[in-house]
Amino acid sequence: MRVFLNQPIPAIGIQMMEEAGLDLIIPELRNPFSDHERIKYLKLCDAMVNVGLEPINKSFFEKNPQIKAIAQFSVGYNNVDIDEANRLKIPIGNTPGVLSKATSDVAFLLMQFVARLGSFYYDKVKSGDWHGFDMEDLLGIELYGKTIGIFGMGRIGFEMAKKCKAAFGMNVIYHNRKPNPEYEKVLGAKYVSFDELLKDSDVVSVHASFSPGCEELFNAEVFGKMKTDAIFINTARGDFHNEKDLYNALNEKKIWGAGLDVTNPEPMSRHNQLLKLPNVCVLPHIGSSTVEARDGMARYVAENLIAFSKGQPMPHCVNPEVYG
Ligand code: DGY
Repeated sequence: MRVFLNQPIPAIGIQMMEEAGLDLIIPELRNPFSDHERIKYLKLCDAMVNVGLEPINKSFFEKNPQIKAIAQFSVGYNNVDIDEANRLKIPIGNTPGVLSKATSDVAFLLMQFVARLGSFYYDKVKSGDWHGFDMEDLLGIELYGKTIGIFGMGRIGFEMAKKCKAAFGMNVIYHNRKPNPEYEKVLGAKYVSFDELLKDSDVVSVHASFSPGCEELFNAEVFGKMKTDAIFINTARGDFHNEKDLYNALNEKKIWGAGLDVTNPEPMSRHNQLLKLPNVCVLPHIGSSTVEARDGMARYVAENLIAFSKGQPMPHCVNPEVYG
């Protein structure tokens, strides 16, 4: 079986697939295939490893009928037309669990960095504007005993809630499609409606997986329902929020601060007005950027494609219904 990788993945995944006898076509790091090479190489392959959420839609499947399996190098799969994949009986693999700790670490980091105005003060030091103790300086806020509102209590949301509770004794409330009694027990968490989550949270942290219908759910109206001293954190998908509305909500002091690891669109322009605000921190989608998480993701990709090459179901598959 021949596999096309649109970007290299960590060595552990390459090694596993090569040892299993898979033939890999991989561009060099920082030297992507040209459009022509890409089309040519994809045509030679039976499966693809998708790094970086490239769209896998109807047009992709039409142009590449030879591709019979996709292994996403991500837990999210909102870039894939799952209905079309199901129709064509193409399994889509992903990487759940292995990046939950790393991604929730970034949400936790953003929450604290924003609460203590980290971007503002870091810029101050870098620009030589640190002149000593200044009573006029902006003040941050503390998180002890506050309420964390998790939007999407899956594996990543759970890890974030655990840290908030352990470090700051925060109360945990959450909103999901349905309650999760197991997580509630461990966290002492309370399931609430979306409006209650907005009304009662000191920090709203988005961890849901993105699905159609959720586009820019966090808009002017929703920010208007949050506490004026609340912090908005998004480490899930930028499509969940409207960035102009977020800027206005911050500027008009409808909410207090925001930390984003995902933006809408990505990459964010360096001229984006959000970057001028003291109580905002933006990171370039680095949730899974640790050695441990990326190695785990590479292992899952390899396990998925090795299983596929043997005619077995992918062990980490988002559409197991294709196996009937
Ligand atoms: C994921 O795994 O979904 C991360 O957001 C990287 O895209």
